[in-house]
Amino acid sequence: KYPGLAATPPMGWNSWNKFACNVSEALIKQMADAMVTTGMRDAGYTYINIDDCWHGDRDSLGFIHPDTKRFPSGMKALADYIHSKGLKLGIYSDAGSQTCGGRPGSRGYEFQDALTYASWGVDYLKYDWCNTEGLKAEGAYKTITAALRKAGRPIVLSICEWGNDTPWAWGQNVGHLWRTTGDIYNCFDCIEDHGTWKSFGVMAILDKQEGLRKYAGPGHWNDPDMLEVGNGMPANEDRAHFSMWCMLAAPLISGNDLKNMTPQTLAILTNKQALAINQDTLGIQGFKHTAKDSVDTWYKPLADGAWAVCFLNRSSKPVALNHNWTIVTDTLSHRDFNPTQEKYSVQNVWENKKATTTNTPLQAVVPAHDVLMLRLVKMK
Ligand code: GLA
Repeated sequence: KYPGLAATPPMGWNSWNKFACNVSEALIKQMADAMVTTGMRDAGYTYINIDDCWHGDRDSLGFIHPDTKRFPSGMKALADYIHSKGLKLGIYSDAGSQTCGGRPGSRGYEFQDALTYASWGVDYLKYDWCNTEGLKAEGAYKTITAALRKAGRPIVLSICEWGNDTPWAWGQNVGHLWRTTGDIYNCFDCIEDHGTWKSFGVMAILDKQEGLRKYAGPGHWNDPDMLEVGNGMPANEDRAHFSMWCMLAAPLISGNDLKNMTPQTLAILTNKQALAINQDTLGIQGFKHTAKDSVDTWYKPLADGAWAVCFLNRSSKPVALNHNWTIVTDTLSHRDFNPTQEKYSVQNVWENKKATTTNTPLQAVVPAHDVLMLRLVKMK
């Protein structure tokens, strides 16, 4: 894969969760504009990713073209526009004969498509797994990796295989992120059965991340799918969703209508402290330390001996916490959170409160389907 990319989890926007197949040049430009005017670009969201259904047909020489009704100016012009805004362009294809939306897939055209994307100025490729009969996932993804390397442009490769072929086990040198599950949808604690496939609410996706943290690190991330923040859940659930994706060191690909979001949605997506936890330079995925009384307690080691701690209330009732700070060891990274020997300041990520310290027990109420997220910094 192209080296040096995605040192921290990629941040951006993708069309699928909100707009599905309803993509066009006009929409993508609007979202790029909104990324800048809302301050999201400056908060770190740089990729504008077009998902399925941008495609027209292949020409007689096999070159893929965008749908000329939806993208009348062509992809090169759109990439130029996006780059002029200080943003990057992502595109979508599929390892099989057709995409999940029935558009032309890249099977048999991998090297040609990679060259085409590079010539357009594409910076990110999400590569899906529909219609792949007879293909083996690892080999198929390695083909597009080789094609992108040959094309020579730094392009982030997002492996979208849904987890059945354990992409975490072979993805590290193949792509920069890999999906760990089927598709997310905007429901906090649900699973939707579509017969041959399922889609998953936020908690269901979270539970499927168990055991995967050892595979993540700078340049290669577990991808629990794109964000549903701003797509219909109440603010507390959006906040819990976003916080957990930050704890997971997950890619933060927003999936809402950036042009028409509420100030509350924007505040969640751009919370500086939450983003700093997600984008921490160590790139260590957080872990669930305890699950008790419907509250999960998560820890994430951060640079300079700091820690993020997140109490997630999964129940539909508020829970009162009375938490004594005790030693926690991360057996993966061999880092200790040791409040018996060190004193840490305790800063609330979501509420602008005076910091406390680990010398006193933590007392707080975590509302239903919400979090208490903290940043703990060693004091001198
Ligand atoms: C699959 C992917 C989704 C989206 C759709 C597009 O379901 O997992 O994220 O890209 O295809 O058709």
